[in-house]
Amino acid sequence: MGVGVFDSGVGGLSVLQALRAELPHGNFIYIADSGHAPYGERDQAHVVARSRALTAHLLDQGVQALVIACNTATAAAIDLLRAEHPQLPIIGVEPALKPAAALSKTGRVGVMATRSTLGSSRFRALLDSLGMQAEFVLQPCDGLAEAIERDAHNLASPQTATEIIAACARHTRAMGRFGLKDGEIDTLVLGCTHYPFAAAVLRDLIGPDVQLVDTGEAVARQTRLRLAGAVPPPLADSAPGRISLFSTGPAARLQAAARRWLEFDGPVKTLHF
Ligand code: DGL
Repeated sequence: MGVGVFDSGVGGLSVLQALRAELPHGNFIYIADSGHAPYGERDQAHVVARSRALTAHLLDQGVQALVIACNTATAAAIDLLRAEHPQLPIIGVEPALKPAAALSKTGRVGVMATRSTLGSSRFRALLDSLGMQAEFVLQPCDGLAEAIERDAHNLASPQTATEIIAACARHTRAMGRFGLKDGEIDTLVLGCTHYPFAAAVLRDLIGPDVQLVDTGEAVARQTRLRLAGAVPPPLADSAPGRISLFSTGPAARLQAAARRWLEFDGPVKTLHF
């Protein structure tokens, strides 16, 4: 029993971190689909097929709710999954354009996300719904999620850290000037759950004044609200929650990432599908 959470890899740990803070007594089953990643530069059919398979597996484990801790999978599959599982509360992750537009003073907002998220009709509809609230500078960040995955695997080696810095530098440079002056980007949306793990690198590149906006905490709050009416104990009782980690790829990578970013030192089981 508990909440199922999945991502293409280690990125969803940034959401799990927030979920754990919001629901300290909740049980979570996390799957990193590293054996079939990255999602962001693959076709939609692949992401939909994987999202369905992971959801089916989590339902077999008895989860009461599902958090899609991946912007790319949310964009590709959340509507379909909700239609297929009408009884299951499903919470997704979307680039936080609206909060970012509200925060921005210059009216120029950068959006970093995967190519697949930015190209999706769901993202397009979100953008259209905001009209002229801000000018959004969209940057498909090819290679960045993969570099973050490799870094988790190689336990933060200097070489993988350099890859992350190079990818962040390339993508921020492509977006233009950052800062608080007219015409500069003063707010940057992290529209992929991997990117919060590169926040320090981004901060060095764009300066101290630019606001970084990610979605982990908002998703965790929304999950708590959705579960409030629907879930009886154990989520509500006082026992400490349990976290179970699974990966369709290298178990060592998820284990290292969970230790580093979640300060959670549990076993990781490998899934073969
Ligand atoms: N973490 C995923 C997201 O939020 C995507 C990473 C990938 O490309 O696999 O979009």
